[in-house]
Amino acid sequence: MKKISAAQVRADFNHLTAVMHYTRAAHRLGLWNSERLLIEEYFSDQAAPLIEAGCGAGRATLGLWDLGYRNLTAFDFADELVDQAISLAVEREAEAIHFLQADATDLAACHALAGKTFGGALFLFNGLMQIPGRSHRRAALRELHRVCTPGAPLLFTTHDRNCSPTEKALWRLEALRWKRGTQDPRLVEFGDRYFSDEAGNTFMHLPDREEILEDLAATGWTHTHDAMRRQVAAETRAVRDFSDDCRFWVAHRAER
Ligand SMILES: C[S@@+](CC[C@H](N)C(=O)[O-])C[C@H]1O[C@@H](n2cnc3c(N)ncnc32)[C@H](O)[C@@H]1O
Repeated sequence: MKKISAAQVRADFNHLTAVMHYTRAAHRLGLWNSERLLIEEYFSDQAAPLIEAGCGAGRATLGLWDLGYRNLTAFDFADELVDQAISLAVEREAEAIHFLQADATDLAACHALAGKTFGGALFLFNGLMQIPGRSHRRAALRELHRVCTPGAPLLFTTHDRNCSPTEKALWRLEALRWKRGTQDPRLVEFGDRYFSDEAGNTFMHLPDREEILEDLAATGWTHTHDAMRRQVAAETRAVRDFSDDCRFWVAHRAER
């Protein structure tokens, strides 16, 4: 059986089920309370050019626009979602947002980004963890580092395998499966999941905290802050129905 690839993840996000799911969220949900709080705290310069990776149908991008951020570049590798984001921006009179199709692991291949630098980066709602393979996730972190100016903030979220006793117990069981070689053969690494729900087929890597700290250090980002969403802000029922609890990460681009 074939391992989950980036091409598979992209096809899953371009599938009608996923497109409808993320488009509905972009139209109805906007920014989570936790996202808004952290953005206002760490992205204090509303005029700074910001880059948002994995923007989907523009849920967070249009939220940033509504908060007053006016120099926004947002990209996703799923073209169907980018089309939805562009259409929402037109509807909200936010055509100045620069939406494009690009792969976070290889921004150099995107001609529209050539020579551009950004004063901050975001990769919200676990998009970074939907990249199969740790070396590829690190490549995405390196690419965001490359296009950001020194001191720029980075905000992203992940799940956390150790966030509750139940999660820990489930992952102990999964570790046994990997030891015996009886894990889902499509998975790339321990911590991966591939499942189906109302958003369609979803690949997700669930790290532990140590893994992300190592990945940030290895890619030129200095860890600033991390906390579970429930510790950052209370969310509405609609947001909790749309998304599980997650860990927020804030880092800053090191000087090198
Ligand atoms: C869970 S969705 C979140 C979408 C949107 N940010 C939101 O919060 O509604 C994750 C997004 O990351 C995108 N993504 C995953 N891997 C990517 C990659 N390598 N390059 C660009 N986008 C990617 C997916 O296409 C998807 O739109």
